[in-house]
Formats: sequence, C-alpha cells, structure tokens
Amino acid sequence: MYNAHLVGRIIKGFLIVKLILGIESSCDETGVALYHTERGLLAHVLHTQVAMHSEYGGVVPELASRDHIRHALPLIRAVAQEAECTLQDVDAIAYTQGPGLSGALLVGASIACALAYALDIPAIGIHHLEGHLLSPLLSDPAPEFPFVALLVSGGHTQLMRVDGVGQYILLGETLDDAAGEAFDKSAKLLGLGYPGGPGLAKLATRGQPWRFKLPRPMLHSGDLDFSFSGLKTAVLTLTRQHELAEQSPDEQNMTEQTRADIAHAAQEAIVEVLVSKSLSALKQTGLKQLVVAGGVGANQRLRAQLDQAANKRGYRVFYPDLEFCTDNGAMIAFAGALRLQQQEAKRDYRFNVKPRWDLQQINTAT
Ligand code: KG4
Ligand code: ZN
Repeated sequence: MYNAHLVGRIIKGFLIVKLILGIESSCDETGVALYHTERGLLAHVLHTQVAMHSEYGGVVPELASRDHIRHALPLIRAVAQEAECTLQDVDAIAYTQGPGLSGALLVGASIACALAYALDIPAIGIHHLEGHLLSPLLSDPAPEFPFVALLVSGGHTQLMRVDGVGQYILLGETLDDAAGEAFDKSAKLLGLGYPGGPGLAKLATRGQPWRFKLPRPMLHSGDLDFSFSGLKTAVLTLTRQHELAEQSPDEQNMTEQTRADIAHAAQEAIVEVLVSKSLSALKQTGLKQLVVAGGVGANQRLRAQLDQAANKRGYRVFYPDLEFCTDNGAMIAFAGALRLQQQEAKRDYRFNVKPRWDLQQINTAT
C-alpha cells in the first residue's frame, strides 16, 4: 500500500471503473501504477534506463524498446503485490499512446491491450502530456480548474490554459528546443552525463552569479512563445573561449569554477524566461493558479523563482511531488481514471501509437 499518496485526489461520484492500471513507456522510463478512484494512488513502481543510455550520451530508441519489454511484466507483478491486489481486481488499463518513441510506445500499448483482452476489461490510450498536465492533481493540496499549466519536459515547452479534463488551449510553445533540451545540451557541453538537467542544476549551485550573463531568448517578444536553441550556441561559445584560456597541465580543459559559473548562467537564463512567460500567461488569462509539470519542474531554482514571483502578485503555484515530475506510471493511471469518467470504456483491443500527437487534438467537445 502506497500510504504517502493515498491523500491524492479522490474522484467523487458513482463509478463502475474503479481500479486502473497505468503503463508508461514513451521514452526511457518504464512506469507502472495502480490508481483507485475512491482510495487514491495505491502503488507505483518505476524502472529508469538512464544508466544504460548514459553510455551513449542520449536515448538509443531500439535499446529503450527492448528494455521496456524486459521490465514491463515484472513491474506489473510488483505493483500488484505492493497494492495487495491481483490483476483480476483491475477494472481498466491505461497506457501511454503518444507522443514518444514509436518502438517504446508499442511495447506499452501491446502489453496493455493484450492484458486487457485477457482480463476482458477496457484499455484506454492516454496522451503523455495530458498525464504530465494532470499530475499536480495527485498532490494535496491540488489546484482547481481552470489553471495555467507550464509543461516543461525533455521534448516540450508549452503554456496551456486548462479548463477541465480534455479542455486544453495552447497559449504558447517553444519554436525550437525544449527547456529540458536546453538543460541537457548545455550540460553535455560542460561534460556532464545524460540526462543533464539534474547534473547541471547541481553544478550551478557552486556557480558565481556575477561572472557570466547569457542571453534570455524571446524574453521581450510580447507573446508566450519560447526559443532555446540560441542558448546552446551561447554556452558553446563561452565554453570554447574558456577551454582555450584555461587549459591546465592536468588536461582539465576548464577550471571547475568556470564550469560551475557557466552552469549557473545557463540555468538562470532558462529559469528567467520560464518565469517571465508564465507570469505573462497568468496576466493574459486572468487566472490565479499556475501548475508546473514535466521533468524540468523538478528544478529547485525554477520552483524558488516561480514561488517568489507568484507570491508577490497573489498567484499560487502547484507542482507535482518530485517523483511525479519526471515520467511515471501514476500520471497515466490517474489520467486514465479521469478520462474514464468522461468517455465510454471500450473493449476494443486494436491499437496504434502516435509518436507525434498534438495535445489539442484530444480536446473533448464542449
Ligand atoms: O518529463 P520528462 O521526465 O521526460 C519527457 O517527457 O521528456 O523530462 C525529462 C527532462 C530532461 O530534459 C531532464 O534533463 C529534465 O527533464 N530534468 C531537469 C531536472 N530533472 C529533470 N531539468 C532541470 N533540473 C532538474 N532538476
Ligand atoms: Zn514526460
């Protein structure tokens, strides 16, 4: 039993579908969870492939698919054991249908649909970003609809207006690299492993704030769009300059301090743009609540700066618990539970995956 999260949002009202198994396999994490509409999140387990991919400096899609195959069924058994139930107790299975790596998605989709067929229960495909977007609702206190959501993951940077489940309006998004990519690429240039976000954030804590200032792309563009690819170039230029200037006899190309100073400058640039655009989105929509979702939402500097700016202006910011910021099965089980309130639970086991999938395509008609 996963006591820490029993407090998560409980879905009110009469429901036939109560216990939902969620399977996430869109990229480099196999996540499985059991969510109960009356008892909350019962259990969730995760296997991360980070160590395997870090050897290659990034995700190798074929290796990711094979690893999902190896871990999905043992994780499903483990989550059932932790929740003290059997698969026969499960009422529906939710799986990530996209966006993501096609091979990795196919593993989760095929296992979910085969299991659902065998158990004679419905299977439902979930949009990965909808999972992220709704994940702060698992926390206590949870935001109320409507809210503005800042979605910041390895592949996406978007500001959305969220009026309810399946009611998403895109306010702005990145024109090139995602915020997570900016973290990862800057980290790589500084010789840090994959994924670079957490490593860069750690290195940045030792940086001297006054030393470097990097460009804040599109800070004053007047809209809610982002652009982070120029930042990578600025970090590259800065590292090159200092590699040459600071070559030392032990072949350390840059001093540790300079690396930390550049990491600090890169993080500040990304965070300032994200904070500024989030505030503009709140102002523009007139809404008072901001929800931050996706892996970059784990960044402590972003959280601190957002909280500070929001407090000053009477806004409130909600974050998923740290373990639900990055990819996980709980957000998929939970999104499945919410979706099954709205739509007929079908016993149709044909499946396809959607490696590219616009979030607004899943809007439910009002
Ligand atoms: O949401 P997520 O787990 O996967 C995707 O759907 O993309 O996000 C992964 C991204 C990576 O780019 C990773 O570097 C970044 O989130 N990330 C962070 C932190 N933790 C994860 N970025 C900055 N600071 C962190 N603490
Ligand atoms: Zn994600």
